[in-house]
Amino acid sequence: MQNTGNLNTLQANGRDDEIERVFRPLPRMVLEANMNPQDLASARKLAEEDFRAYWEQAALDLEWFEKWEQVLDDSQAPRYRWFAGGKCNIVHNALDRHIRTVNRNKLALVWEGEPGDSRKYTYFELYRAVNRLANALRNLGIRKGERIVLYMPPLPETVIAMLAAAKIGAVHVVVFAGFSGKALRERIQATNARCIITADGFYRNGKFTSLKPLVDAALAADEEDNVDVCVVVRRAGIDVNMTAARDIWYDDLVRREANEAETEIMDSNDPLFILHTSGTSGKPRGIIHSHGGYMTGVADTIKSVFDIKPTDFFWCTADAGWITGHSAVVYGPLIAGTTTLMYEGHPLYPQADRMWNMVDKYGVSILYTTPTTIRMLMRYGNRFPAQHDLSSLRLLGTVGEAISPETWVWFHKTIGRNECQLIDTWWQTETGQFMISPLPVSPLKPGSVNKPLPGVSADVVDRKGKPKPTNEVGFLAITKPWPAMFTGVLGDEATYDEYFNTIPGVYFAGDVARKDEDGHFWMLGRADEVLNIAGHRLGAVELEAVLCSHKTVAEAAVIGVPDKIKGETAKAFVVPGPNDQICEDPTTDARDAALTDELRQLLRQELGPVAELRSVVFCESLPKTRSGKILRRVLKAQELGQDIEDITVIDEE
Ligand code: WTA
Repeated sequence: MQNTGNLNTLQANGRDDEIERVFRPLPRMVLEANMNPQDLASARKLAEEDFRAYWEQAALDLEWFEKWEQVLDDSQAPRYRWFAGGKCNIVHNALDRHIRTVNRNKLALVWEGEPGDSRKYTYFELYRAVNRLANALRNLGIRKGERIVLYMPPLPETVIAMLAAAKIGAVHVVVFAGFSGKALRERIQATNARCIITADGFYRNGKFTSLKPLVDAALAADEEDNVDVCVVVRRAGIDVNMTAARDIWYDDLVRREANEAETEIMDSNDPLFILHTSGTSGKPRGIIHSHGGYMTGVADTIKSVFDIKPTDFFWCTADAGWITGHSAVVYGPLIAGTTTLMYEGHPLYPQADRMWNMVDKYGVSILYTTPTTIRMLMRYGNRFPAQHDLSSLRLLGTVGEAISPETWVWFHKTIGRNECQLIDTWWQTETGQFMISPLPVSPLKPGSVNKPLPGVSADVVDRKGKPKPTNEVGFLAITKPWPAMFTGVLGDEATYDEYFNTIPGVYFAGDVARKDEDGHFWMLGRADEVLNIAGHRLGAVELEAVLCSHKTVAEAAVIGVPDKIKGETAKAFVVPGPNDQICEDPTTDARDAALTDELRQLLRQELGPVAELRSVVFCESLPKTRSGKILRRVLKAQELGQDIEDITVIDEE
């Protein structure tokens, strides 16, 4: 469990007015909100009485080719089927329908490259670009239900490729460009993809990083793969190896394609995308989302939570390789008809004011980012924000990990002028949509994620599903189905079921939380052995499996330890094995340093730069249960100087 500081910090600092204060929204915010307090009260009331009716209303706000027969088919629970029998396509709602409205010539997508170049697409232009690629993909023989892997940096073509795939009914599988070639290979294999779309490379931190060679290596190493097309976006125009009869430049592919393409008619429960995330096993899980439920949940929550107005300029800093990129960079903003901003590079390039510079330049009105990013920028003080006009901002948001009250207050004050609502949204890859979050009209407590959104039912429960008393720590449970819920885990029904049968009768999110006397939720980290490094999920077992593949490692245990910037980082405990002859120098220090270095590199190579290891402790043995299961909890308690009881408080075994 991660100590995220909310309860403890409040106690440690005594009665600190700033962080213990309740921040009320400005009257103007309340007056202008899409969902004012009366609307909110009636939405909550409707949802409590009949959550199906609430979500049906949300679905009716979108366009369907054919209406559903049943709002929620729960006859095969937990295989819930939302809007069963309905026919739709998310791209019709994200793009096609806007072409017939005043949105036609409005900016849909603005992209800025790290060197400062930029590209802009109106809804009409984006629609055409998507149609051209959709036609090209169809001409390549790609059909409904087929998987397309996108190994892409943040580029306009990433959005275009996601939408083009969905438009023809193919299933996109976005692989974060920070993942290794090996991770890419695993995902290509797991999804049996025939087509991959990538780029020559991208700019980050002032330099150009090649991507295509990683794809080449992944494809060369894998004799099992079915990939027969690799589409390459030219980002920097560098020379790359193009394999004849397999590789084709994106520009060449779409050049002669028509501007119109038919939108495939999908069943509400046909898959839209697969996105891999980490769980407690050694292998990433392919989380499946489907058209109808996902579009409904995402559309409704982005509209109410971010209060989208026709004049907004929306910037979510996430990469499309994560669920936040899917729901809050691409689908959510486009369905809402707003302008979405994408940035290619690093927030500190060329200096620590890049984000403030971009807010100023584009007049960003909603800024949605991570606590890690805020902590990183906070270190540079108030000087950089003060150099820019941030007055266009009206809403701030965070996601991915708990935000400490101090960080919250800094963001609210320094970036939000103490005027912007600060929306801390709790959700997951599996939930698809925002679940627990304040709304523009909510009174805010720094560090709390507020209340479940209308239509979402959540509680803090014990292992048996019994609600915990106020302020007691327990497991976060979602107690009713919600529309954007995942519809499966690729090739793994047992793992899907586990989410619903670990705690009887509810969806177990894997998080620890408490609920205070006002019904506000406080998230306290993961209950399972999943690390959250800079808002990115990584399974302890996944990291351990890589470490154990090193010839000198007999056993390894990985735990998450608190980190000032990243929230959490990985620390490994390693038992060296008999092949421990890595270094000629016989002193242990030199051996340890050399081995630590090798292990770091191995993780980078196998999983990518996200899997960063802070330190390694070499030991003779690891604490284990009698049946031989590694007791990571014991290591964690030692590390944090806590009693084992303190961190097993909710473990009632
Ligand atoms: C954590 C990201 C505290 C949580 C959208 C969850 C959070 C995991 C918050 C999902 C938040 C996400 N406060 N913790 N506001 N948002 N988390 O699947 O542990 O990448 O289970 O989805 O991130 O991570 P995922």
